[in-house]
Amino acid sequence: MKKIAFFMGKGGVGKTTISATVAYQLSRENKKVLIVSLDPAHNLGDVFEKKLTNEKRPLGANLDGVEIDLSAWVARYLKESRNEIRSNYLYHSAINLENYVNILKYSPGTEEYAVLWAIEYIYREYAAAYDIIIFDTPPTALTLRFLAMPSITSLWVGQLSKMREKILKKRQTILAVNPKASIVRNRPLEDGGDEDVPVQGATDKKNDKIYIKLSGISARLTELQRLFSHESYLSVVVNPDTLSLSEALRIREELDRLGVHINSVCLNKTSAEGAGRENVEKNFGGCPVFMSPLLTEGVRAVSDLSVIDVEGVKNDLKAAE
Ligand SMILES: Nc1ncnc2c1ncn2[C@@H]1O[C@H](COP(=O)(O)OP(=O)(O)O)[C@@H](O)[C@H]1O
Ligand SMILES: [Mg+2]
Repeated sequence: MKKIAFFMGKGGVGKTTISATVAYQLSRENKKVLIVSLDPAHNLGDVFEKKLTNEKRPLGANLDGVEIDLSAWVARYLKESRNEIRSNYLYHSAINLENYVNILKYSPGTEEYAVLWAIEYIYREYAAAYDIIIFDTPPTALTLRFLAMPSITSLWVGQLSKMREKILKKRQTILAVNPKASIVRNRPLEDGGDEDVPVQGATDKKNDKIYIKLSGISARLTELQRLFSHESYLSVVVNPDTLSLSEALRIREELDRLGVHINSVCLNKTSAEGAGRENVEKNFGGCPVFMSPLLTEGVRAVSDLSVIDVEGVKNDLKAAE
């Protein structure tokens, strides 16, 4: 069985219901399961009739749940960035740190990084203690963006590392010509500063803080990319309607481009005869399609989670290596 499962798809198709059902049923089969909601509009707790928080809580035997507090992760990411800039660029008094952090708060990507670091944390912290971690995902757009983040960011981190190497080489050349070149007058005389302070400038990759930092980010992103492409079982949930199907196809297409491939499609809320199945199979050629018929009374209590039919996807997930 894979260590991680993601259920994706359009709003309302049943991502939360299917992930909760699979989690619940696996826990009943004595698998240790952690279910994690990444959706800022949390309703995983409602399904289990329990209040969930940023700290994991028991939902039953072998089953714990967490609702990731995205705003707390954004705040943490901003704090880390602030501390980092402060420690690396202290000599550069021209940077208005608060202003910069405010910009960062609203810059594109901040929320996606927060989701990524939350997933990384959950995996590091809990992978050893559970047989599987199941993620109930946010709406499609955010999900696609955070899944895409590792490969996109790796590209520019790679370019930045190359630039940094060039800068270090130039520094070496300059210092060979003028060994005092690293000395700068960094406190103006009128501020009482009369000391020449050397820039903390390394000339070697091994000692350069910025290069080391870039390599660290690169390693974390590579690990997340591996997590998504090798350790994860990805399933797209659809209903028998055209809109949810076209959104599911878009998800597959975009993920394919990132080298992340979906394992299955869950056709949820079907009639007993499975209307629409052929159409989904035709569109998702080669990908297994599993059906979960609509419960006509709706999902009203935790006990309904043993009734919803997720046999197909559950067994496929268990068999996935
Ligand atoms: N198989 C099903 N039978 C009956 N109702 C369902 C089924 N799957 C989902 N629902 C209902 O559909 C609504 C949306 O489901 P939800 O899991 O919250 O979707 P999503 O997480 O994709 O937004 C909920 O009211 C849920 O109870
Ligand atoms: Mg949901």
